[in-house]
Amino acid sequence: MLAVDFLFHKRLYRAAQEVLLSRWGPSACPTRQPLAMLDLGCGDAQQIAATLSQCGAPGGNLSLASYTGVDMSAPALAIAQRNLAFLQPACTVSLLQQDMTTFVEACPAGQFDLIFASFAVHHLSQEGKARFLAHAARCLRPGGAFILVDVFLREGEERQQWVERFRDHMSEAVAAGIVDEDEAATVMGHVEPFDLPEHVCTYQRMASDASFAAAECLHTDPKELSRLMLLRTRDP
Ligand SMILES: C[S@@+](CC[C@H](N)C(=O)[O-])C[C@H]1O[C@@H](n2cnc3c(N)ncnc32)[C@H](O)[C@@H]1O
Repeated sequence: MLAVDFLFHKRLYRAAQEVLLSRWGPSACPTRQPLAMLDLGCGDAQQIAATLSQCGAPGGNLSLASYTGVDMSAPALAIAQRNLAFLQPACTVSLLQQDMTTFVEACPAGQFDLIFASFAVHHLSQEGKARFLAHAARCLRPGGAFILVDVFLREGEERQQWVERFRDHMSEAVAAGIVDEDEAATVMGHVEPFDLPEHVCTYQRMASDASFAAAECLHTDPKELSRLMLLRTRDP
């Protein structure tokens, strides 16, 4: 499914690349202070590694001092180690097998310039997301930002309506021969009970409560199933 970009990951990561370069590339950031980046729920880091490479990290258009990836899955982290090897030695790569909420809660203030979380936050309850954002805001330095890529509800949509839209999208994948019935059932067996997408306005409220200065939705996939939001801390 990833190979044919059925779930729009490539578009979302292209949008992430644009955000990274427009915010921290040479024209936006002439002082070029190397960034400390935290990737929460990094998984195998395959897509973020490709994105960082396309941005010119670690020493080109995107200057990266450190990449810290946090994930509960040891097998995924072992693959991430290989995918991120190109960053070293200029950029320190630390991969931690840990619950990301535990990590942000224990993280000292102002440790990172950039937090990235892609398709990892939607399993948290709304209260859990609010707490998670509050700690994430604290982990960021002034002028820092949180790039959130995840599933989202349409404005006014109930969760069950989103699940049905996702199911329709999977049915199209089956009809197109991209996945078979069993694979689609496996995906839905995970999505239906565990995915807890929110509205953009809910994230904006939670971000404001977490003392982020701004929270904007910068990209939405053509099916309006997933989005990229940029949450910014106050300027230094
Ligand atoms: C769908 S994958 C996304 C991986 C990667 N961010 C990407 O976009 O390709 C979700 C990842 O989040 C991790 N994850 C989910 N909840 C987590 C938690 N509470 N703490 C740490 N990792 C978590 C899972 O282990 C999984 O690797």
